[in-house]
Amino acid sequence: MGRIGVGAMAVVGLVAVAAVAVAGVAVGRSVRSRRRWRRVLGVLRELEDACETPVGRLRQVVDAMAVEMHAGLASEGGSKLKMLLTFVDTLPNGNEKGIYYALDLGGTNFRVLQVQLEGRRSSIFPPEVEQQPIPQHLMTSTREDLFDFIAASLKEFVERKEVSFGYSPEKRRELGFTVSFPVKQTSVSSGILIRWTKGFAIHDMVGKDIAESLQLALARNGLNMRVVALVNDTVGTLALGHYHDPDTVAAVIIGTGTNACYVERTDAIIKCQGLVTTSGLMVVNMEWGSFWSSHLPRTSYDIDLDAESPNPNEQGFEKMISGMYLGEIVRRVILRMSQESDIFGASLSNLSIPFILRTPLMAAMHEDNSPDLREVDEKWREMLEVPEVPKKARKVIVKVCDIVTRRAARLAAAGIVGILKKIGRDGGSITGGRSRGDARMRRSVVAIEGGLYTSYTMFREYLLEALREILGEDDARHVILKVTEDGSGLGAALLAAASHSSTPPPNTVDSVQMP
Ligand code: BGC
Repeated sequence: MGRIGVGAMAVVGLVAVAAVAVAGVAVGRSVRSRRRWRRVLGVLRELEDACETPVGRLRQVVDAMAVEMHAGLASEGGSKLKMLLTFVDTLPNGNEKGIYYALDLGGTNFRVLQVQLEGRRSSIFPPEVEQQPIPQHLMTSTREDLFDFIAASLKEFVERKEVSFGYSPEKRRELGFTVSFPVKQTSVSSGILIRWTKGFAIHDMVGKDIAESLQLALARNGLNMRVVALVNDTVGTLALGHYHDPDTVAAVIIGTGTNACYVERTDAIIKCQGLVTTSGLMVVNMEWGSFWSSHLPRTSYDIDLDAESPNPNEQGFEKMISGMYLGEIVRRVILRMSQESDIFGASLSNLSIPFILRTPLMAAMHEDNSPDLREVDEKWREMLEVPEVPKKARKVIVKVCDIVTRRAARLAAAGIVGILKKIGRDGGSITGGRSRGDARMRRSVVAIEGGLYTSYTMFREYLLEALREILGEDDARHVILKVTEDGSGLGAALLAAASHSSTPPPNTVDSVQMP
């Protein structure tokens, strides 16, 4: 064989070796990548198992909610559920008249409202509403700073709205003040802030009367206005719900935070022996965000989120359900997956930033109906500043959002049925009392508010589906979830009107039929 022939053979040999090596590397890479992918799927499966909410488990949560409600009513500190008295025993009924103001302090924004009531149910609208963001630094400063800022804005709002009928500084005005934080009320118009939630931290306000702090700021700012009703946002929502539909027995908020209130018999409020109201009823603010039960399906992500939060061991239910936290749970799961695999892109340092994945963004990705999940890709890239996300990773993101949202919505449904059970309006399908279709199953309306329910379709659908599963189709038909737009603010103005009027309207909470 000539030189050329030997040389050619050597080249062929080298090419073959190289080809084998390349193939080997490729095989190695694909084996590794398959292994990593399997790990991602493992994390996903684990999450799915840990978040399972079969109807049996939901019924256990229903029972636990009802039991905790009893315990919270029996003694102060008897349950994680605070079951706070509101001193609201008269719900608005449509007879209210006059101009009332409301201030709604709920989260990152506050709203001011002017409401004109004409003594007829339908004549409440349209209210004048203005919303303003609370500057970030005021959310962690002093109560004087916060309330001076709010009082000045309120004064400016009043001057503008009253200019057409002659603004007079001497004129006395009445205000309903909605506070979407836990407050231990001492009367219908006063109460002590128990603690902040949802990112607020004004330490000198905790343990002090929040209505009085506002009242002092109104005086400092020269606005003649009296806080005549101090209400939780759930109570405002209940008031508006009942104004429109007297079968309204409870109200639930599922937004940045979550909570519920309902109408209770005063004789069931054992911790306040001797509590007497003309109606024999009182609205109770449950503060259900702090509900806890061993039946709640808790994952390692929930445990870590809680431990790293500013309020560990508090608001356990809220941390599984509400808009403030759902995106954060998803972020934690995907961070864990990205540590197992690079399918989400190589550089993911932004994914380590807590709360970078906000729930509205999560909802947009979850509800992406495009065949190639374009929205998921866009949102993910924008948020994390990473290149394109492979399609299979997009699918995983959607699946994680689905698991987390489904669990939240189903638990919220169980909470609602828990309230119905406590007041005997679950038709016996849960209590094991009477059979379905029994005459005892009365129409029960639950007023509902909050962006998670109103704007996140999948969340709403999962919640309604779970209600039907828990109650059964027949009984579920008697339970109506009614969105009360702007209830927290409007309801406060209505309650201000109801509590201000010297002669109580004839149709009080008595008109809510109680068992
Ligand atoms: C607060 C409640 C409030 C709920 C909904 C929770 O974080 O503790 O008082 O009703 O959020 O806004």
